[in-house]
Formats: sequence, structure tokens, C-alpha cells
Amino acid sequence: MGMWGYAPDPVCCFGVGGFAANTKARAFFGVGCASPKPPPHGATPQPPPFSSRPLWRRRLFMPQVEMNDELMDAKLGEPLLSVARRHAAHIGFYCDGSGLCTMCECRIIDGADQLSPVTDVERNWLPQARLDDGYRLGCQAALRGRGTVRALTRAEELRRQLLAVINPPEGSTAADTMRPFMANVIMVNWQHIGTWPFNWLRILQRNGLTRFVWPVSNMDLFMRDTLRITERMLNGRTTVTVEAETRPNLLTDGKQEQDA
Ligand code: FES
Repeated sequence: MGMWGYAPDPVCCFGVGGFAANTKARAFFGVGCASPKPPPHGATPQPPPFSSRPLWRRRLFMPQVEMNDELMDAKLGEPLLSVARRHAAHIGFYCDGSGLCTMCECRIIDGADQLSPVTDVERNWLPQARLDDGYRLGCQAALRGRGTVRALTRAEELRRQLLAVINPPEGSTAADTMRPFMANVIMVNWQHIGTWPFNWLRILQRNGLTRFVWPVSNMDLFMRDTLRITERMLNGRTTVTVEAETRPNLLTDGKQEQDA
């Protein structure tokens, strides 16, 4: 097998003719020809888009998150922010999950019932109308079911809206696409400006002064994830996924350590 799993497809799926000929079956079970095609000669091989774990195992035993149109594996109890960071998805996390910045906000398109209930932190930051529209904070909403959750991060939503302003889709003008972009930016900032002094006081009370002033619980991970996401956004390259088991639960573990 070549670097990053670019196998030459030996005998097309182990020579199991009938089964192997069924592309959907191969894709479901994650074997044989479901591996990506080798890159053109001379091109830099790219890593797989997400976990190299067999697909059948991911589908049967692990929750699935489709974030920013990319399918990601996850584990039960894992916050959406952690899933996004492991897969270098476009998401903000300035406060490292302390509930201070709201940059991790996501719109849940599907599967909201697979997530943990709305927390006090979310109620404080997000008005009821926004919660009703499916918005959650990625650092607060954790996976509690095995069904698929589809989400779009606010960072990615704004990026797509901005791209539509710069390069309007056919049949629309920049003025058309500017409106939703500006409405989104103004509305979010307006909502947060109105609530931040009280929310910061609440969080100061809840997290304590040290964590309030320095919310990053694991600087090494914070920097690594920031670089991976930035690199991916700049180069458009897929980054190697970090397996859930190989890193601490970014939110609960850090808090437990602090509580201890
Ligand atoms: S990462 Fe800052 S509020 Fe979620």
C-alpha cells in the first residue's frame, strides 16, 4: 500500500468478483476499490479525508458527523468542537471551549436530537430565536446518539457567504448575496454585544479567574489544531485526521483536571 493508503487496487477488491463489482457495497464496507485513485504522476499524495478505520465499523458503532459537507467519525460524548478540530474543519475556538467566545457556533441542519440538551452557557449567549433555528455552540453540544448529525459551522457559513459576494453565483448579483452576509454578521455581533458583559461575569464566576484570564487548557493542542486548520484553509489540502482515542476529551478532561 502506498503512502496515505493509495493502494494499487490489487485484483480489484481481493478478486471477490460479484461483491467487488458492487461499488456501493464496497464503499459501505470500506474495502477494495473504495480506496481513492492514485495521484497523477509527480503529484504530492494527499492523506485520506478522514479516519482510516473500516467504514463498516464507523457506520455501525460510531456516531457520524457531517460537518461542512464532510463526513467525520466521532465518539459518543464527544463535543462537536472536538470532532471538528480532529478533522481540521473550519471552526473557531478562541477560548478553547470555555464558553467565552461563541466562535464555535454551528447551525445544526439535521440530527439535533442526537446531541446533548442545550446548556446554560448556550442559553446565555444564544437568543431563543437562534436556538430555534438550530444554532448550538460546538463546545457545548456533545454527541449522545449514533445517528448522523449534519452541521455547518459559523466560520464556514460566513466564508461561503463572503465567497458568494466576491463571486456571485449565476443569476444573482453581488448586491443580492451581500444582504444575507451582512445580515448574518450584524445580527450575530449585535446579539453578542448585548449580552457579553453579563455572560463574561457569569463565566468568571463559573470557571474562576485563572481559567477566565487564560482559557486555553492545552496550549500544545490548541496551536497544533490552529495550524492544521489554517494550513487546510490556505492550501485547500486535506489534513491527517487525529483519532478520537489518541487525544483527551478537549473539554471535559481539561475541566476535570482543573476541578481536581
Ligand atoms: S470555543 Fe469559545 S465558546 Fe466555544
